[in-house]
Amino acid sequence: MPSKKNGAPETVTSRIEIGFNDLKEKWPQAEAEYDDYGSLKILGHPVMEKWETNYMAALANVACKNGGTILELGFGLGISASMIQRHRIEKHVIIEANYDIFSELLKFSRDAPNQVIAIQGFWENCVKHLAPNSFDGILFDTYPLTESEIHKNHFAFFPYGYKLLKTGGIMTYYSDEKESLQADHLEMLRASGFNNIDYEICELETPDACQYWQDKTMVIPIIQK
Ligand SMILES: C[S@@+](CC[C@H](N)C(=O)[O-])C[C@H]1O[C@@H](n2cnc3c(N)ncnc32)[C@H](O)[C@@H]1O
Repeated sequence: MPSKKNGAPETVTSRIEIGFNDLKEKWPQAEAEYDDYGSLKILGHPVMEKWETNYMAALANVACKNGGTILELGFGLGISASMIQRHRIEKHVIIEANYDIFSELLKFSRDAPNQVIAIQGFWENCVKHLAPNSFDGILFDTYPLTESEIHKNHFAFFPYGYKLLKTGGIMTYYSDEKESLQADHLEMLRASGFNNIDYEICELETPDACQYWQDKTMVIPIIQK
């Protein structure tokens, strides 16, 4: 069973019960299911919930601190994307793997005040087509598509984040950390090239029924190249 650093182990076991069999293969064409309470599910997995709005706003503030060109990975309900668009930025590149959500992203891109470049696919396949040292800010928020990625699906992105950021550029992400960055997390950041590592704490109104987070705080990473 994957280790759980923060929060309750139930968030791991409940997702294992939902199932990861061929999840990545099925993900792009799977139906995106939205409910009246602002939740998004795919193949039974709790992908995104509206209570995260203030956390998404905080992540957008960090990613957009330098303005310029912003890379976002994972569109979901488009909450962080909307928050990014409220900032003075030049360009917003968004990568999304699921086709239903990608079609929402295309609608979003038509009405957005700042230029949006929408890319369909898994970030793992798409980032090699992006120019190194070309982003002022990055916001990473995807979803674990294998059991081993639960609570650490951001780790594999760190070396790519380092490569894609301009010097002075800032990366942030859904951290899966309650109140500090744990040793394995810091190690992954440092091994990827990051030395300027900071964070703040965000207060959350996590509903008791949430299947993927059970704490009332989450770390907002502020990682500068
Ligand atoms: C948690 S949601 C993003 C929530 C978003 N930040 C918001 O504010 O609504 C995760 C999104 O990442 C997408 N996703 C999951 N794995 C991905 C991957 N490997 N590459 C690209 N998109 C991925 C999912 O389809 C989903 O739309």
